[in-house]
Amino acid sequence: MTSFDFTPLLAPGLPPPAVKWTGFAKYNFIGGHNDAEQLPLDALVKAASDVLTREGRTLATYGLSSGPLGYARLREFLAQKLKRTADITCAADEILITSGSLQALDLVNGIFLAPGDTVIIEQATYQGALTRLARLGVHAVGIPLDGEGMRMDALADTLDELRDRAVRPKYIYTIPTVQNPTGTILSEVRRLELLRLAGEYGVPIFEDDCYADLIWDGRRPPALHAMSKNGGVIHIGSFSKSIAPALRVGYIVADWDLLARMLALKTDAGSGALEQMVLGEFCPAYFDAHVPELTRGLRKKLETLMDALNEQFGTAAEFEDPKGGIFLWVKLPDQVDTLKLFQPALAAGVAINPGPEWTTDKSYGKSRTRLCFANASHEAIRAGIATLAEV
Ligand SMILES: Cc1ncc(COP(=O)(O)O)c(C=O)c1O
Repeated sequence: MTSFDFTPLLAPGLPPPAVKWTGFAKYNFIGGHNDAEQLPLDALVKAASDVLTREGRTLATYGLSSGPLGYARLREFLAQKLKRTADITCAADEILITSGSLQALDLVNGIFLAPGDTVIIEQATYQGALTRLARLGVHAVGIPLDGEGMRMDALADTLDELRDRAVRPKYIYTIPTVQNPTGTILSEVRRLELLRLAGEYGVPIFEDDCYADLIWDGRRPPALHAMSKNGGVIHIGSFSKSIAPALRVGYIVADWDLLARMLALKTDAGSGALEQMVLGEFCPAYFDAHVPELTRGLRKKLETLMDALNEQFGTAAEFEDPKGGIFLWVKLPDQVDTLKLFQPALAAGVAINPGPEWTTDKSYGKSRTRLCFANASHEAIRAGIATLAEV
């Protein structure tokens, strides 16, 4: 019954097929999974019950009773939360709820990018951003980072060079507040310089702030969106890192003119309503108490990971203590190729993210790896790093 051959009918240019999921590795340091122990389950159950009892009948309409931008109470929470934590002034109607911030990336890319375009991006960055750009046939120019985030001298040189070649980049994509994978926070001085350069060269900034709530000391500079004087910043965020990734709830903050363009591309008739309703009910009551607790737990796991690396690898594993988040960006000795290390490590039960998949410069990424410390238990972190050292 399975002899029908679909292959000759497939559309041209499809990405390679997905590999079948065979379960998580025993020692899982990949992806952006959260800490299951810290999930605020009781409060989420209560929120789900309360909101469904009160408003459940609105599920009979597409978009609840809130319209295509997403559940109104959630957008209202976000508008006041973004003001309080990131100094962003926006109305609830300048926020579009998306199916994870991955859909936000797709929508922003969708309204700006065509094959052959150029964008500027951090040299080490989110793999999901890089693969999207590659699939779109867009040239991604990487800017090196240091301990304070993207280097502004290198950005100025690149903008200059591109202008000399009459190339106007479509945007500068940055993860300024707890960068993925380096864990750096772009300082306020650099933020001002980034905004100045972006203004001078007429390039918008695409600010991805999905880790901004997970800072060890809770202090962050204002968002680029808040500091911009010309409105040339599109800001996105997510509940994946602060609450739970399986909920698939992210958002875009932008002027209505841009959101209107994105809405025209958002063909799913609204993101999942139940998770929006649950978050809209949960967040006003519990978000502020939950996040510092989660962050404290994550910091302890990071310490376990750094101790285990020091113990098992000694000076062979180099890293900076990140300012927050769920990742450690580790440099192994030059002769290690993490793309090659990946398979034997996995065979031994340890899943790691090879550096070249997270960088625009593959030689810079070669001996680096990104380790997520949020999901594994303290024991699994210690045992996994000991196994990785053996491999
Ligand atoms: C920088 C960055 N942006 C966006 C995403 C997408 O996350 P989500 O779609 O779960 O919101 C991730 C996930 O790891 C990320 O690291």
